[in-house]
Amino acid sequence: MSVPFTDLAAQQHEVDEEVMPRLRAALASGAFIGGPEVEAFEREYAAYAGSDHCVGMGNGTDALEGALRAIGVGPGAEVILPANTFIATAEAVVRAGATPVLVDVDERTLLIDPAAVEAAAGPLTRAVIAVHLYGQLAPVELLTPIARRFGAVVVEDAAQSHGARRLGGVSGSLGRIAATSFYPGKNLGAAGDGGAVTTDDPELARRVRMIGSHGSERKYEHEVLGFNSRLDAVQAIVLSAKLKRLEDWNARRRAVASVYDALLHDLEDVVLPVTAEGNEHVWHLYVVRVPDRERVAADLAAAGISTGIHYPVPLHRSPALAGSLMRVSDCPVTDAAASEILSLPVFPHMTAHQIVLVVEALRMAFGRPLGADSLDRARALEGTGRP
Ligand SMILES: Cc1ncc(COP(=O)(O)O)c(C=O)c1O
Repeated sequence: MSVPFTDLAAQQHEVDEEVMPRLRAALASGAFIGGPEVEAFEREYAAYAGSDHCVGMGNGTDALEGALRAIGVGPGAEVILPANTFIATAEAVVRAGATPVLVDVDERTLLIDPAAVEAAAGPLTRAVIAVHLYGQLAPVELLTPIARRFGAVVVEDAAQSHGARRLGGVSGSLGRIAATSFYPGKNLGAAGDGGAVTTDDPELARRVRMIGSHGSERKYEHEVLGFNSRLDAVQAIVLSAKLKRLEDWNARRRAVASVYDALLHDLEDVVLPVTAEGNEHVWHLYVVRVPDRERVAADLAAAGISTGIHYPVPLHRSPALAGSLMRVSDCPVTDAAASEILSLPVFPHMTAHQIVLVVEALRMAFGRPLGADSLDRARALEGTGRP
């Protein structure tokens, strides 16, 4: 038996009954881009993310570029972001015409390190991107005063953190403006590409919507040069149905993570992920650190376990960015992590049996098999009544 990295078919199955009639009605109505379903989802997601406004976009990268441009980031500006993130975070900065400034991450959480931000900030800094990586929130409350001192603001990259909370605040409501992705594999995923910007500021929301609609609010009146990036009704319907289950699905991800924690913590060679104090993690990814990572990943693959690496090449070593204007601080933590990190499968519909298969395979890779009662222990530990 094999264990996939995620199971999107199971998610769709759970929402099928709600989605299909709404899809049929939307397709019959001809409201494909924008329209009542998109407007309804924007209201639902704004409420969920604790923000006054939500603007649906075509994907997360466009959402981030739109958010950056809306706050005035452009040529001549510097934007600080962690070197350990998906390349899209930097793409959005470069596409907005600004200069990415790459800084290192915290050793325990692998999230952007406020001390590194402080050291890298300067008079050209316009924004600091708090990337909420792997499903937990970066310390926005520490980043905001640093940014403010330099006349900059915090922009959240909330692509991996739908529903995550920190010190009472929810992902997407903590910075001046936030961008998220609804790529199918995210905690809240569409049936294709999708994204959104959330903010409390009506003028920023207006600007993002205008930028993502060819720089125009009224047909053929183009205020600025924008681009085309809008959420469509099909995605809005799927997202609306899945949003109702997101809290439950995030709780199921947390249960998987707690079983991994309990059944792996005695392996001295495996560094388990750390949840920062004050954070409620939503486990988009469960990222361990192991020595001899390629061998361990191969052992897991041979046992039928899918894994991932998020991310194998730090941004300052990416050939795609080599030609871009960029400022890079020393990133020893990011560099060391890149060769050790390994993402284990974690998804809401994972069975107890699948969790144990992953644990068993990882333990076997270090010659430390599990006890015979492991499946019963896993079922007792995770407490959701999984098969
Ligand atoms: C941290 C991060 N930022 C930005 C993005 C970009 O989102 P999208 O793929 O929807 O453009 C992603 C996901 O792909 C991501 O993981």
